[in-house]
Amino acid sequence: MTDALVPELLTGVPLPLVLIDHNERLRHLNPPARRMFGDNMEGRHFLAVMRHPDTIDAVIQAFRHGKTVQSRYSRKDHSTETIFRVTCTPVGAQQPHPVLVSFEDMTPLETAGQMRRDFVANVSHELRTPLTAILGFIETLRGPARDDAAARDRFLEIMEREASRMNRLVDDLLSLSRVETEERIRPTELQVLPDLVQSVCHGLRPLADDGNVRLVILPSEDTPMVRGDADQLRQVFTNLIENAIKYGGRNGTVEITYKVIDRDPNLGTRALAVVVSDNGPGIEAIHLHRLTERFYRADSHRSQALGGTGLGLAIVKHILNRHRGRLKVESTVGLGSRFTAILPVQK
Ligand SMILES: Nc1ncnc2c1ncn2[C@@H]1O[C@H](COP(=O)(O)OP(=O)(O)O)[C@@H](O)[C@H]1O
Ligand SMILES: [Mg+2]
Repeated sequence: MTDALVPELLTGVPLPLVLIDHNERLRHLNPPARRMFGDNMEGRHFLAVMRHPDTIDAVIQAFRHGKTVQSRYSRKDHSTETIFRVTCTPVGAQQPHPVLVSFEDMTPLETAGQMRRDFVANVSHELRTPLTAILGFIETLRGPARDDAAARDRFLEIMEREASRMNRLVDDLLSLSRVETEERIRPTELQVLPDLVQSVCHGLRPLADDGNVRLVILPSEDTPMVRGDADQLRQVFTNLIENAIKYGGRNGTVEITYKVIDRDPNLGTRALAVVVSDNGPGIEAIHLHRLTERFYRADSHRSQALGGTGLGLAIVKHILNRHRGRLKVESTVGLGSRFTAILPVQK
């Protein structure tokens, strides 16, 4: 390989690369490396440019032992932290070898790993609470409450409730993983949303009656069809309407309206919006952008008491993503909340 080709080759590689010659001076930086260390660094000693102790150490080791050495380098710009894997590789035939230093951005991998660990910790915590309750009641039923028929009935009822909560959690986890798996597959069937929503409302009628909640579907004219997976869309509206009934409070009103949007600014297409609004206590602004995170609850006391899993809106968001749609959440404390599912409409 001729020396003249080296800069061109390095330029073609998308990660930051720095070639340090046998005199320990920077010979070449490709454009990503220049963005990292600045222009006109060629000719300077590497110690003057790379200030990070572990990186310096790795370069020295590579020079000294003629072997590839790796290290980590974390760099803070404003508020974001980027974590690099630094690889120092001796190159070429001459002695001592020049060393090529590459910087691979490991941040997405590290973030994904952290998310996975958090998720497992959350699931374990969510399962442990009902399990602990059930185990406690089994103890009591074996001991002090053994001959107390009334207590037995009451405890069995609580145990059933806790077991159902675990069941719902597992169901929601499975739905979430199924939706995630299918996220890249676009649904093909055409759906008439008002019919679908009508049937969802029919199923939720008993829950609404229990809380004396009025469930009102405002008439819709000429709502266009959307491409979608019927089961998943049913899940979206079940979650939204169920939340409105549960959190909107007793004696409230839940209203469902349709709106055709000529051009949704975020989707860039014609869209159909289904608005689910309640006149409940509303949600404080600080919670709004986090509601679709897994296990995030604005009012965790109330969610727990109502048997919520904290996964409903996360599922809604994933399903709408798969449909190339989006969820809009608005709320005013004291007045109520409005959740809008917006789905693209083909011309
Ligand atoms: N209509 C609503 N009014 C008030 N708060 C709501 C409403 N819908 C959702 N929330 C809040 O958002 C949180 C997340 O909702 P969701 O993901 O469906 O979980 P959950 O299983 O708790 O219902 C709920 O715990 C609740 O605090
Ligand atoms: Mg819910």
